[in-house]
Amino acid sequence: MLEKLDDLMSEFQTALSAVITKPELFDLKAEYVGKKGKVSSILKSLKDATNEERKTVGAKTNTIKEAILKAIDEKVALIEIEEINAKLEKNWQDITLNDIIKENGLNAAGYHPVTLVQREIEDIFISMGFEILDGPHIEDEFHNFEALNIPKNHPARDMQDTFWFKDMEHLLRTHTSTIQVRGMESHKPPFKFVGPGKVFRCETMDASHEMVFHQLEGMMVGENISTANLIFFMKKLLSEIFKSDINVRLRPGFFPFVEPGFELDIECLICKGKGCSVCKQVGWVELLPCGMTHPKVLEAGGIDTTKYNGFAFGLGLDRLVMMRYMIDDIRHIHSGDLRFSEQFKEY
Ligand code: PHE
Repeated sequence: MLEKLDDLMSEFQTALSAVITKPELFDLKAEYVGKKGKVSSILKSLKDATNEERKTVGAKTNTIKEAILKAIDEKVALIEIEEINAKLEKNWQDITLNDIIKENGLNAAGYHPVTLVQREIEDIFISMGFEILDGPHIEDEFHNFEALNIPKNHPARDMQDTFWFKDMEHLLRTHTSTIQVRGMESHKPPFKFVGPGKVFRCETMDASHEMVFHQLEGMMVGENISTANLIFFMKKLLSEIFKSDINVRLRPGFFPFVEPGFELDIECLICKGKGCSVCKQVGWVELLPCGMTHPKVLEAGGIDTTKYNGFAFGLGLDRLVMMRYMIDDIRHIHSGDLRFSEQFKEY
């Protein structure tokens, strides 16, 4: 009897090692330890055995039964792990964008045209001794308006449709001129810096207007700064950027924070001055509003106006990018369309 049990165990082990699937395993379980299984029939045959036999064989049978159940449980766990591995092998996904990009014939990881142009301009200004400053998108009234000589109820606030926060004290900056104020607060003259970044206005969107766009503010403060200095830096910037002769015009422009103020326009490069949707059919594009910093602004920034003066400008980065790459609609810039941004990879 005991020998028979040993044989049964080794027979089971051989059968178990050949099992691959769960259904096969459940059949094997029934065959050995099920109600009508091999182990049960041995136990049943004990009814004719002596007490002594019953004791030893019974105990051994139970041990074997437990060993079989344990081996089956272990095999179930093994099969389940193999099933998961097989699924992972079959259903894996590349969650990097590579596949989508490859399928669409696109190149990966290009820089956005605004980034490219912004960096190029930063390099030009760094080479001329300017510092690069940053500022927050969420601003207070003081930095966006008051310190820039735009008091409450001043009509110039209407020139810039503002996104206000519920508290009516904070807003999304409408221009990068906020960086002028922050720069004056943190620097002692003489100094010169540029501050690029996103600005926000509640505008109706069309080919030349977006609610989110980019400016690059510039400011220079020192002794005896003149309009000639301002014009020199503006011309230098444009000739470096366009690397060719472009037609520019300077006309008076009103901004409460500069006096005198100018608008520097360039001839529209999309239509070569003929008139199109980008230049609103006038043939010229407003690119560089600028002027000599108003003494009130310098005072608000803590600058001694008996000793120092300065100039400031606010370059419209999106328009510059559009002229540079012949983009005929500003809405492409924030479209997020890879077919658009991919074109600028190889700069
Ligand atoms: N902040 C002005 C605007 O966004 C532009 C500007 C900057 C004008 C600096 C003059 C000097 O409209």
